[in-house]
Amino acid sequence: MRYFILAMFVLAVPGRLAAETGSAAWLRYAPVEAAVRGRYSALPAHVVTVGDSIVLKTARAELVRGVQGMLGRTLRAEAELPQQSAFVLGTFANLAPILPGVGFPAHLREDGFVLKAWRLHGFPSLLIAAPSERGVLYGVFALLSKIARQQNIAALDEVQEPAAPLRWVNQWDNLNGSIERGYAGRSIIFENGRVREDLERAGDYARLLASVGINGCAINNVNADPRILADDFLPQLVRVADAFRPWGVVLAISVDLSSPKVIGGLETFDPLDARVGEWWRRKAEEIYRQIPDFGGFVVKADSEGRLGPSAYGRTHADAANVIARALAPHGGVMFYRAFVYNHHLDWRDAKNDRAKAAYDNFHPLDGQFENNAVIQIKNGPIDFQVREPVSPLFAGLRRTNEAIELQITQEYTGQQRHLCFLPSMWEEALDFDLHADGESTPVRDLASGRAFHRPLGGFVGVANAGMDANWLGHPLAMANLYGFGRLAWNPDLQAGTIAEEWTRLTFGNDPVVVRTVATILVESWRIYESYTGPLGAGTLTDILGSHYGPGIESSERNGWGQWHRADHEGIGMDRTVATGTGFVAQYPAPVARLYESLQTCPDELLLFFHHVPYTYRLHTGKTVIQHIYDSHYEGAEQAEELVRQWTGLKGQIDDERYEAVLARLEYQAGHAIVWRDAVSNWFYRMSGIADAQGRVGHYPDRMEAEAMRLQGYVPFDVVPAENASGGKAIECAGLQPCAADFRFDRPAGQYELDVQYFDQNNGASTFRVYVDNRLVDEWVANGSLPATKPGGDSSTRRRIPGLKLRPGDEIRLEGIPEGAEHAPLDYIEFRQGK
Ligand code: GCU
Repeated sequence: MRYFILAMFVLAVPGRLAAETGSAAWLRYAPVEAAVRGRYSALPAHVVTVGDSIVLKTARAELVRGVQGMLGRTLRAEAELPQQSAFVLGTFANLAPILPGVGFPAHLREDGFVLKAWRLHGFPSLLIAAPSERGVLYGVFALLSKIARQQNIAALDEVQEPAAPLRWVNQWDNLNGSIERGYAGRSIIFENGRVREDLERAGDYARLLASVGINGCAINNVNADPRILADDFLPQLVRVADAFRPWGVVLAISVDLSSPKVIGGLETFDPLDARVGEWWRRKAEEIYRQIPDFGGFVVKADSEGRLGPSAYGRTHADAANVIARALAPHGGVMFYRAFVYNHHLDWRDAKNDRAKAAYDNFHPLDGQFENNAVIQIKNGPIDFQVREPVSPLFAGLRRTNEAIELQITQEYTGQQRHLCFLPSMWEEALDFDLHADGESTPVRDLASGRAFHRPLGGFVGVANAGMDANWLGHPLAMANLYGFGRLAWNPDLQAGTIAEEWTRLTFGNDPVVVRTVATILVESWRIYESYTGPLGAGTLTDILGSHYGPGIESSERNGWGQWHRADHEGIGMDRTVATGTGFVAQYPAPVARLYESLQTCPDELLLFFHHVPYTYRLHTGKTVIQHIYDSHYEGAEQAEELVRQWTGLKGQIDDERYEAVLARLEYQAGHAIVWRDAVSNWFYRMSGIADAQGRVGHYPDRMEAEAMRLQGYVPFDVVPAENASGGKAIECAGLQPCAADFRFDRPAGQYELDVQYFDQNNGASTFRVYVDNRLVDEWVANGSLPATKPGGDSSTRRRIPGLKLRPGDEIRLEGIPEGAEHAPLDYIEFRQGK
């Protein structure tokens, strides 16, 4: 009987998938499905590593681990080439003498590799060879990825090399363990002002980075704490470098330009003062003595309150070079950020334009930087908005190394609570042809250094991974980290290809899963854009605070310069040469012509370059205002559709990750409506032009909280008004429980009830919903949204499906305040038939 019950149980849950936290990311090495395992049955059972370095050992161990996980076979490590088939790992230099017939490529960029099926002493073998040890490790990861994606590797003969030498991530971690613009927990590197004792996770992170070819990591905030260069910090940095080294990831740090004065005891940090030069020289020497493979420094200067060379009337080249010269003898790289602008711009002056700052600051200095200095340029001229043109500075530096800085952490694109697959955006930026010198010069070739034959160049991704088990918070956000690495390696890759690869590695090869997840990913950037920022006007988020929810006016009438200039007549920044700020002139002529003219400027960037009336007609034939309304409604619907697509995968993905994604997508769909309503109502109020489809300002299915019968609840104005329905909400007057009720007066039937409430991070109120005194739902508002008051950041939807309601039913909401959160409520919406 016991056996019978056991058998029943096994039969009842045949395909149940083991729970996964997401910590393995795309390196799960899940067992290859039985049906395709035969494809790999001829793989060698032995592995030989020719050479003895730490990275080679890592490469071998990774191969053993991957084959074990995916194929259930334990490779035997051999010291010598065996008289049987084997995986053979080594550098060209080590392998060439013992494998004379192979013929390795003569010119392969550093970090490139060869995967080659070869007969060794007559036995079928697989060579993983490279010019450098790191390349061997990358070759191992590439091979394992192929197996995980069920590719045929029987007759492998493949050569890969990276597009650029520098493929780094930046972490904006603070020494106290917080992360600036990090959305997945505390720092994996720092804690309480020091490097963490336990760096296991830092090592795991380096492994993830290495698996997609990332070879450097700057570990601390670009708003750098000078203490990172203090003498007692160096031994701590040594430990981080040790954790990264097995994976071929070099350690780098962000430094503050004023360090010689602040921690060095000099009275100056003037880059042209000989004592300052000497200080940097000695500091570099000290570092390299203890970390011989140290990567270099990142500098943010004269920007957003950071000190810089302007304090002494010096140039950015002076500042970059003094440090670059100190690093040069050791092979270190100096990344100098082009994100330099004045955040006290006079907004009244229509000629002022923050977008011009990077080019204005750096173009005149072209050719003056040392050969190991690299100008790190954000992809767009403003700041990681959901849509920007590419920075003209990429074409403005011909005799200076450059790198493109992309933001993996979703600061302005939903902060990993919303799904936004950024390779779609990056692909467009990298493909964009700037036509420098009249030649074809796509951004990818400028950034990599290829276009102007620069010795250095590359890709920097601001990642901000944290202690959360799944690294970035949203399980699907890891596709952005993966995608960044893949594009840095091969910027010709298409976003769709990357999405598919990542899905196979992360969720397996089931065709429905692959198709669904890849489609969701690829569509998500445009969906996010359509319910947030229209036509290149910016993300329309609260730029003075969290950079998260809607904050349409926050960008205006202040010095930060993220203006969209919307008024009662029209919207957009006139950046033309003819009538605007002249920013357009920073582009090479063919691109300048494209953007200068209203006829040729693409709709999606119209408001970045032109100020137009709301009634202006786009190339699609729609007016600007109607486009704003339509795209926000369509975007919110598409966000809802993402939930529907995802729910089709139930049972195909382990429950843990399935539920984690579902919760975020449902939240996103609710917040997309907050965005939709805020933006469309604000523009309705501004323009006075009604929505041709009659949606904006009309919510027949809503019951406003302030219109209910209140007991202990009091109405209040939400500021800004567009961030709550009708501009008002209710909250409990004190810390006592309170209630709001009303009589249902719609036709009898089945309804879904959406309760729109505010979830602040300074309290955890309880909400209860009763229908005729029957409790139908209860929840605690204990999310961690970036908000301490009711508004666009905290507005959240609770969906209660399948309620049978009749006219006259009493619907009562109870709120139990906690902390500073007084159970705030905005409205209830009914959806019939759900
Ligand atoms: C953005 C971001 C800051 C960051 C800055 C930078 O403005 O909000 O947190 O310091 O970029 O890139 O330096």
